[in-house]
Amino acid sequence: MVNFPTLRPRRLRSNKLLRDFVAQTHLNAANLILPIFVKDGISEPEQIQSMPDVYRYPPNDKLIKYVENVKEKGIKNIILFGIPAYKDEVASSAYAKDGVIQRALKMLRESFKDQILLIADECTDEYISHGHCGIVLRRNGNLVIDNDESLRIHSKIAVSQAEAGADVIAPSSMMDGVVGAIRRDLDEAGYKDVAIMAYSAKYASTFYSPFRDAAYSKPSFGDRRGYQMDPRNSYEAIKEVKLDIEEGADIVMVKPAHTYLDVIRIVKDEFPEYPLAAYHVSGEYSMIKAAAINGWIDEKTAVLEITTAIKRAGADLIITYYAEKIAEWIREGV
Ligand code: PBG
Repeated sequence: MVNFPTLRPRRLRSNKLLRDFVAQTHLNAANLILPIFVKDGISEPEQIQSMPDVYRYPPNDKLIKYVENVKEKGIKNIILFGIPAYKDEVASSAYAKDGVIQRALKMLRESFKDQILLIADECTDEYISHGHCGIVLRRNGNLVIDNDESLRIHSKIAVSQAEAGADVIAPSSMMDGVVGAIRRDLDEAGYKDVAIMAYSAKYASTFYSPFRDAAYSKPSFGDRRGYQMDPRNSYEAIKEVKLDIEEGADIVMVKPAHTYLDVIRIVKDEFPEYPLAAYHVSGEYSMIKAAAINGWIDEKTAVLEITTAIKRAGADLIITYYAEKIAEWIREGV
């Protein structure tokens, strides 16, 4: 046959202009969310050993300067994690008026007005003595994370974060009913316009380890498998996301991201009308970083490929420690 093959997919790959012309997935700084650690009691940024190039920031002008800098690069969405001065049995430093997150939110709101979207991670683990995502009670001699006791604390934290200026509350505890409890109490307190981005399908993952090192939030006993999802299940994500939507979540999330691309796709197909966030977590970050530092992979190419894969799988929003870098690379023209 003279004219064989007639169908030639390579035609559309033959130069960059054509490839860009037909590309279906594009990264955009507007859809990226940068996580920021804010720590009480320090005056200078502090390097995080297990997450190279990520820092804990003091709630002062250093934080403002950092946010100003990322904003100039095009990152306008940040999610804040607090590292408090003290921990107790009820996580009171998570809802104190002068808590580290409350102070950070107030400062950022005053400095940036409506120029930065302020998202507050809502959980107890960094603020509670034992490091769990809820209240621990002794039942029949066993220590249990009590779901309904925990809800009262979670909505207290959420309301105090809204009061301090958060635009979005992001409950990450995986307690049953937490989204509904927070929605009800936010509304009652007059914060009807404060949105909820729910960590809906959050898996019990070893890839949170560097984060727990960064935020000193490793549980002192047991693990989180009694509330975070079992990595062996995919369709259970639909159950979790559905409940959160019924309880009033505005945005839903799958976490981790890179290891759970199949779950992202399932959730997006099932609930296409809801914005879907995916969290490229600390361990996923540090693995790339470590390989890059060793010269085993090219950091920029790897990060852009993985982040694009997360978006291609169906994520509308991506939480990533690489947000600032990605924004720089987008500007350079990828
Ligand atoms: C809980 C929370 C965790 C992360 C985000 N929110 C830790 C956990 O569940 O142990 C992990 C994020 C990451 O690994 O980057 N407040």
